[in-house]
Amino acid sequence: MSVILENITKSFNKQKVLDNLNLEVKKGEFHVILGPSGEGKSTLLSIISGLIKPDAGKILIDGDIVNDLPPQKRGIGFVFQDFALFPHLTVFENVAYGLKIRSLSNKEIEDKVTFYLEMVGLEKHKDKFPSELSGGQKQRVALARALVIEPKVLLLDEPLSHVDAWQREKLREDLKTIQQKTGITTIYVTHDRLEAILLADKVSVLHQGRIEQTEPPKEIFYQPKTSFVARFVGATNIFKGCIIEIAGERAKFKLDDSNLIFTVKNYPIFKEKKEISLCLHPEKVSLSTVPKEENHFLGEIIDVKFLGMYFRVLIGMENVELEALVPKEQVSLLVPGENVWICFSPEALHPLCGRPCRQPCDLRKCKTENRCH
Ligand SMILES: Nc1ncnc2c1ncn2[C@@H]1O[C@H](COP(=O)(O)OP(=O)(O)OP(=O)(O)O)[C@@H](O)[C@H]1O
Ligand SMILES: [Mg+2]
Repeated sequence: MSVILENITKSFNKQKVLDNLNLEVKKGEFHVILGPSGEGKSTLLSIISGLIKPDAGKILIDGDIVNDLPPQKRGIGFVFQDFALFPHLTVFENVAYGLKIRSLSNKEIEDKVTFYLEMVGLEKHKDKFPSELSGGQKQRVALARALVIEPKVLLLDEPLSHVDAWQREKLREDLKTIQQKTGITTIYVTHDRLEAILLADKVSVLHQGRIEQTEPPKEIFYQPKTSFVARFVGATNIFKGCIIEIAGERAKFKLDDSNLIFTVKNYPIFKEKKEISLCLHPEKVSLSTVPKEENHFLGEIIDVKFLGMYFRVLIGMENVELEALVPKEQVSLLVPGENVWICFSPEALHPLCGRPCRQPCDLRKCKTENRCH
């Protein structure tokens, strides 16, 4: 079932948390809402589920307005940020709870609970109490409890935040498999961009009460439209400047407060003298002892941080600082105070339209006109 939010607004004690928010989740889609802590992600899920009423706006499930429907009639399964299991009930009883209140027969309850406990890999633990389970197992109980009512829509609020890195990877894979098997429309909330890349068909980035961009993960990561989205997905190099020349496939971009000129792919929105910001992913920058690529500039290494497989290197050139994410093999180059060539292709630079989307993003329109609507 599809889920559509139209102009949803919600304030708590005069603090506007959601501000005319629009969102469209298609039937069968795995849709990830990505945003920093405190931006209103849980509030958004609670509004869809009916646990919180919006101050204004419409909620449509499968085309029907459900604003006045109580939560139990909306056909929604909810996995809460803190599991919310009943401590005095066993795993089996926790999962069976939603079916009991719907007055199913004992046989139906037994069959459905067993089926979903097997799906989440917990059949052997059905007689345990929540206090006897690990974080990952509790999370699986919460998932089975949400799935057992065979909802039309599944809402997952940071469901992997309480499990360690190992369990998280396994649970993440299981979640994706279960979602694909059941085909259930899923809205998954997280502040973790890696989770968004790995799970989502589409990602919506939430910022200041609105969705700033909705697109498949690749587009969100490599073609962010606003500086907030760019920074949040790790495109930390953002340059303000002006298009000074356009020649066929290429354009020249002069950075503000600097004499540096970048060569960039000519985008349809470019016009001479147009002021614009460009972003550059740190992993698209390479460092070298010799100049390479169409863009190469001599810079000075300021700082080097070890991140496991990669080094994050801060380099200065003229008045500009830039980050590069480079593999370990380049480590011999990386001494603070030394000079190094900073190299990147014109295609690595991407323009930010600078205006957050006010409507659900129309990808086709945005692409042809190359701006948000
Ligand atoms: N019941 C409430 N009463 C008052 N303020 C609330 C209530 N629920 C949420 N808020 C406020 O609304 C804002 C958004 O909260 P919300 O829990 O939706 O954020 P979140 O994006 O889910 O954060 P996190 O990633 O930390 O879970 C916060 O500033 C929070 O303090
Ligand atoms: Mg939350």
